[in-house]
Parts: sequence; C-alpha cells; structure tokens
Amino acid sequence: MGEQAYGLDTGVLDSISNEIKEIHNLGVEVAIVIGGGNIFRGVAASANGMDRATADYMGMLATVINAMALQDSLEKKNVFTRLMSAIEIKEIAEPYIRRRAMRHLEKGRVVIFAAGTGNPYFTTDTAASLRAMEIHAEVILKGTKVDGVYNKDPLKEKDAKKYNTLSYIKALKDNLKVMDATAISLCMDNKLPIIVFNLKKSGNIKRIVKGEKVGTIVQ
Ligand code: GTP
Repeated sequence: MGEQAYGLDTGVLDSISNEIKEIHNLGVEVAIVIGGGNIFRGVAASANGMDRATADYMGMLATVINAMALQDSLEKKNVFTRLMSAIEIKEIAEPYIRRRAMRHLEKGRVVIFAAGTGNPYFTTDTAASLRAMEIHAEVILKGTKVDGVYNKDPLKEKDAKKYNTLSYIKALKDNLKVMDATAISLCMDNKLPIIVFNLKKSGNIKRIVKGEKVGTIVQ
C-alpha cells in the first residue's frame, strides 16, 4: 500500500516486480507468498467482534487480489508467472497442486501462491513456511519495512539493536516478531533458514541471492 492508508500502490507494485524480475533473470527459481493486510486484516476484524474464521477467510480473499495485481505487474515486464490459490477459485487462479507448482518452477515461471494455506487461524507467514517446505525451497526471504529483526520495535525505539543472525529458539523465546510461532517452529523443525530484510530498499533481494549479508538470518 506504500504510503497510502489502504489498497494498492502502483509504484510499490512496480518496484517489487522489478526486484523479482532481476533475480529471476539470474536464473533463481522464485515462488512468492503474498499477504493481504493492505486490503483486509483478519486479526483486527476479529478483535472488533467478527467471527475469526470469517475474518480469516476474508483476509485470504484479500491475498488473491494482491496476487492478481502482482501477476499483472510481473507479466507486463515479460516475466512468466503462474498464480495458484489454496482456495478453489478456478476462474481466476489455478488450484494449488504441489507437483504442478514444482513443474512451473522448473520451467522458469514465477509461482505466486495466494489464499494462504486455505485455512483460517493460519497466517501468511505459516503459508510461506509450509509452501517453502513443500517445494523444497532453500530459504525464505521475508520482506518487511525495516532492515531486519531488532530487539525492540525500531520504528518506535531509537536504541533498538538489529540482529545479524538469530536462532529460531531466541526468536521464539523473546517473541521477536520475525514471523508467528507456528511459522518459525515449522522452519526450525525442518532447518529452513529465514532472511528478514527491508523490501523498501531497492536491490536488496538481488544482494541476498548473490550472498551479501543483508537483514537478519534466522537459522
Ligand atoms: P505446462 O503444461 O507445464 O506447460 O503448464 P501450463 O501452465 O502452461 O499449462 P496449462 O495449459 O495447464 O495452463 C495454461 C494457462 O492456463 C496458464 O496461464 C495457467 O495458469 C492457466 N490455468 C491452468 N489451470 C487453470 C485453472 O484451473 N484456473 C485458471 N484460472 N487458470 C488455469
């Protein structure tokens, strides 16, 4: 949503697509899990009295809107993509089929996973961890608006300290808001590293795939 309070910012979409195109051009297989908080926040709605499952399903639909926007933006830049949804919505997206997703990746398509895991009570982060495991990803890159994981909120506290490396256990124990506990536990059990980085800094994704130390690595 960029600097807007809500919705889709075409400038942000454009810059994220450029970043993805850059690494795709290097031959990296890329799968993307996208959230929906710029459109609808299930957790906030349930805090305001909406049934949690209903709110979460609405959030999943919001991720489909974002995924379609990203697909459109990438394809305008001649990046071939396939959009797969965890909720059947076949007029809009392919159903998620693991082996098919892997085939798309082998064929050089950027795969966008929409609608989370298809289940309420599971976050986008958990969907990312689950899909990463399923497609045998080497790493999860978690894009955020700060430079990595800090001991306290860097947007609120001036003396917040950034971690360059972090163990899963510390992230969990200190509740460091890397990802939610379910997502981190899944990565921990399967030894999948997570790199938390600033998505707003242009070139960051490329730096990471080229092996530069960017953000915080949780492993
Ligand atoms: P290969 O068979 O590996 O070449 O993959 P492919 O994705 O090109 O084959 P397919 O003929 O299955 O898909 C052609 C196009 O239709 C692609 O853009 C798919 O994303 C899209 N597509 C396939 N299945 C569905 C579906 O169930 N729903 C929607 N909306 N699109 C689909």
